[in-house]
Amino acid sequence: SDLRRYKFNVVMRNKSRLCSSKPVVTVNGRFPGPNIYAREDDTLLIKVVNHVNYNISIHWHGIKQLGTGWADGPAYITQCPIQPGQSYVYNFTVNGQRGTFLWHAHILWLRATVHGAIVVLPKPGVPYPFPKPHQEAVFILGEWWKSDVEDVINEAMDLGVAPNVSDAHTINGHPGPISSCVGQGGFDLGVMPGKTYLLRVINAALNEELFFKIAGHKLRVVEIDAAYVKPFDTDTLLIAPGQTTNALLTADLPIGRYQVVASPFMDSPIDIDNRTATATLHYTGTLPSTPAVLTDPPSRNATATATKFAHSLRSLNSAEYPCRVPREVDHHLLFAIGLGLNRCSTCANGYRVVADINNVTFAMPSVSLLNAHFFNIPGVFTDDFPGDPPTPYDYTARRVVNMGTTTGTRLYRVRYNASVQVVLQGTGMIFPENHPIHLHGFNFFAVGKGLGNFDSEKDTRSFNLDDPVERNTIVVPSGGWVAIRFIADNPGVWFLHCHLEVHTSWGLKMAFIVENGKGPNQSLLPPPNDLPKC
Ligand code: C2O
Repeated sequence: SDLRRYKFNVVMRNKSRLCSSKPVVTVNGRFPGPNIYAREDDTLLIKVVNHVNYNISIHWHGIKQLGTGWADGPAYITQCPIQPGQSYVYNFTVNGQRGTFLWHAHILWLRATVHGAIVVLPKPGVPYPFPKPHQEAVFILGEWWKSDVEDVINEAMDLGVAPNVSDAHTINGHPGPISSCVGQGGFDLGVMPGKTYLLRVINAALNEELFFKIAGHKLRVVEIDAAYVKPFDTDTLLIAPGQTTNALLTADLPIGRYQVVASPFMDSPIDIDNRTATATLHYTGTLPSTPAVLTDPPSRNATATATKFAHSLRSLNSAEYPCRVPREVDHHLLFAIGLGLNRCSTCANGYRVVADINNVTFAMPSVSLLNAHFFNIPGVFTDDFPGDPPTPYDYTARRVVNMGTTTGTRLYRVRYNASVQVVLQGTGMIFPENHPIHLHGFNFFAVGKGLGNFDSEKDTRSFNLDDPVERNTIVVPSGGWVAIRFIADNPGVWFLHCHLEVHTSWGLKMAFIVENGKGPNQSLLPPPNDLPKC
């Protein structure tokens, strides 16, 4: 295994999209930021130097950080942010993991422009469990606001209302050509006829699940969230913020130009009008004047397409990549997640939109939780996070609005190696919205899902304990549930939150404390010397 060094200079840079220009926070002046390449078991040393007037921290999304929780990155969870003028070296090993990940800022809404891909190849000499592609390409999907993103969320938080949606989606940083902005190009990938390509598609958008589609071409899904799956063919991918999908594309159509689209999926009744992003695929030998073959993106409420995609996902579960689903469960948790309204005299409508898990709206501490845990600093958090909702409830009753969540920095404590099952129950309160829930520090197995209220007796019997999909971010359907299982074999403090950034801002988050084990390599290492201070 190798040691790989990267330097991330966090700097302001003017970027122009949609025919207007604004300064944005970038890594090394780029949007999206640079990609990181490594091999399984390599060690990464990434020096982040903060040259901007915002606090910053970077998360390596999907990397487990076994024993190195100090390098995980969420601000005030595992570290104090890197202050202006300061730096921090993220030092971690990609133990036993390979595939597509993403890195992103994990503070405020800076993720909007501060993100990039992490591509971890298998160990030298280890092939993919699918035919070797001719080449690989990264597609990173994002969002663009014409106004300053921090202003967007700060204003919304002050007024207690929902923030403005983005003005465009992007593919590798570009919305693609639109008639209202002449001269704006889009991303273009060249392919050779007859060859197969591995596409690594990442959703780094702040607030939207996205469909991804290429005119005329089938995509063969082989991996999601850096875990191999049983290959299946589809013409549309559905990827939630924080998720990654690897798919094989074979360039087997007539030589020409083909449109690539990324378009939002949201079953919200509220009509939101931000655009489909477009890019192109062109075959070598295509004349420059050839118009692209177009494709219609799925509609915003293409629930059947979304469901079909989700139901096709199964762990590869081969001899080399067995699926190790926990059979026994030590902690049975039921997390009811949703949005609510709390009274607020200074807010625009007399109420503030909040989000909660089991009626707890998580309050961010002003020092790092991991620090408080490691050094036994009292008064920062409590470890009484409720394992069940306060009262039994009909979670599918959409007109019920939660009018009073409680606020607290409450964590849930488990011992080393405990087996944890969390049923994530979507409540659909206020209005129906899906929640892509991300867990730091672990991959989990999604052993069951369904619509309506989770029924422990009945639903547990239908769990898939053979080849459930393994991932780090799972979409909880509005008015439905998902059951996940993981083994708490990574000591530290691990964030769980909705990867729709607006919901995180509203408090849809909590954290697990995993205690040290008694054996060798079962303890959280001490913090590095350059760990930022609050
Ligand atoms: Cu990709 Cu806690 O985030």
